[in-house]
Amino acid sequence: MTESDLPRRLREALVAAGFTYDAVADLLGPLAHQALARNETTPALRRTTGGSPLETLTRLFLLQTVVDLDTAEAALPGLVDRLAADGFLERSVGEVAARLDVRPYAADGDSLWVVSDLTPGLDGGPARVGPEHVLGISAASTSLAQLTIRETVGRSLDLGTGCGVQALHLAGHSGAVVATDVNERALRLARFNVGLNDLRTPVDVRAGSFFEPVAGERFDLIATNPPFVISPATGEQLVYRDSGLPGDRVVEHIVRTAPAHLTEGGWCQVLANWAIPTGGNWIDRLGDWLDGECDAFVVQREVVDPSAYVELWLKDAGQHGAPDYAVRYDTWLSWFEEQGIEAIGFGWINLRRSGAATPARELLEWPYDVEQPIAPAIRDWAAAADATVGPESRLVVRSDVQQETLGPPGAEDPEVVVLRQQRGLRRARRADTVEAALVGACDGELSVGQILDALADLLDLDAAEARTTYLPVVRDLVAEGFLTSGS
Ligand SMILES: C[S@@+](CC[C@H](N)C(=O)[O-])C[C@H]1O[C@@H](n2cnc3c(N)ncnc32)[C@H](O)[C@@H]1O
Repeated sequence: MTESDLPRRLREALVAAGFTYDAVADLLGPLAHQALARNETTPALRRTTGGSPLETLTRLFLLQTVVDLDTAEAALPGLVDRLAADGFLERSVGEVAARLDVRPYAADGDSLWVVSDLTPGLDGGPARVGPEHVLGISAASTSLAQLTIRETVGRSLDLGTGCGVQALHLAGHSGAVVATDVNERALRLARFNVGLNDLRTPVDVRAGSFFEPVAGERFDLIATNPPFVISPATGEQLVYRDSGLPGDRVVEHIVRTAPAHLTEGGWCQVLANWAIPTGGNWIDRLGDWLDGECDAFVVQREVVDPSAYVELWLKDAGQHGAPDYAVRYDTWLSWFEEQGIEAIGFGWINLRRSGAATPARELLEWPYDVEQPIAPAIRDWAAAADATVGPESRLVVRSDVQQETLGPPGAEDPEVVVLRQQRGLRRARRADTVEAALVGACDGELSVGQILDALADLLDLDAAEARTTYLPVVRDLVAEGFLTSGS
């Protein structure tokens, strides 16, 4: 067997065992599956005692349990020694244990597998990882995958590919993918995963920092979940989360540099943290990073105070309870103070090179529940930004918009009217009587001007004034997706 046979032969074994995401979910059942998501293996161990290849692979790679050699051989015929030589398994006389994580992954209707470093901290075990740890599929990976617009594109870029999970998604709708990383272990695993999944799309995995490996190249889509943790960068750094750049400079660098790497119409979608300066404001800070070439839709999803942030990331690094935990905690907090950082924002940055003379820009604080995947809502935001809205426009209320009314029991008229989207971002906005009636009347038949004139007549308002007041409101309703041009 040559070296290049291994991905193919492993894939054949995984297919033969039926080691798919759905099969594992069925095998474990919802409770054991949820327990495993909480890093607890006991319920899953109780459900995988039958010795089938599917159970063996689940125990070996997902539950990190030692399996006896014969059982492992039955699940991975002729491969145990080879996988041990390549660092996937460790073999003793009669037993086999996993040294890498191999897991099925359901992506956009495809059944894939992803190899990464082992999940640390199962069953309360050691959670510390080495500086070159290659993360598996994390909540952040899923978040970016759901944010990424899945339209067919020519070339796409996965910046900071890690195990290659975003590249695997991109391969499903791109003509060609470039994936970059600085971590040699990540590059090796990403290349392996490309081979393991027998992708039809070429994925070029390149070594180098940020945009260096793609100097002078442009892409239709850039998706990146960069190492965005904001820390004093003292002590050991974990390459999957620490960029080595101070503060949130890594995200600023990506936002400032990406436009030069986008084709006309191209998107760059970034999952990010940013510093919120004491007494300052995140919108001004991020607004400064945006250039005049790209539309920008930035959504702040969460704001975390410095102590909660430090706790989160010290725990992530397995430092909780370590002898120097309190010192690290204190140092990190002092550093936030010195830097004048009051809180940390988390969210999505979406840039589109639209070619518009005045790029559209929205920086939105939206911590509420949204429909996932959220990508179609991001695409719709851009379509709304392209729309020209005037009195002649014939608009349609989006079919998922509902009206909520609030007021004291028995009152004839509501005190508050709220228009709320049931889908996408699930935006909500308060509306006055005219606005609510106007939205209700938008069925594509009458123009906005005709509707406003009719409402002015009905409510005894000055028609010219109604147009002056409500045309900007209509533009906002279109920009926010309540009204569409109906095409
Ligand atoms: C948070 S992980 C994301 C991994 C994967 N793309 C995902 O979505 O799960 C960040 C990745 O960026 C890589 N990285 C760190 N510094 C980098 C740099 N200067 N240039 C490119 N990649 C870098 C890390 O090695 C790691 O694989």
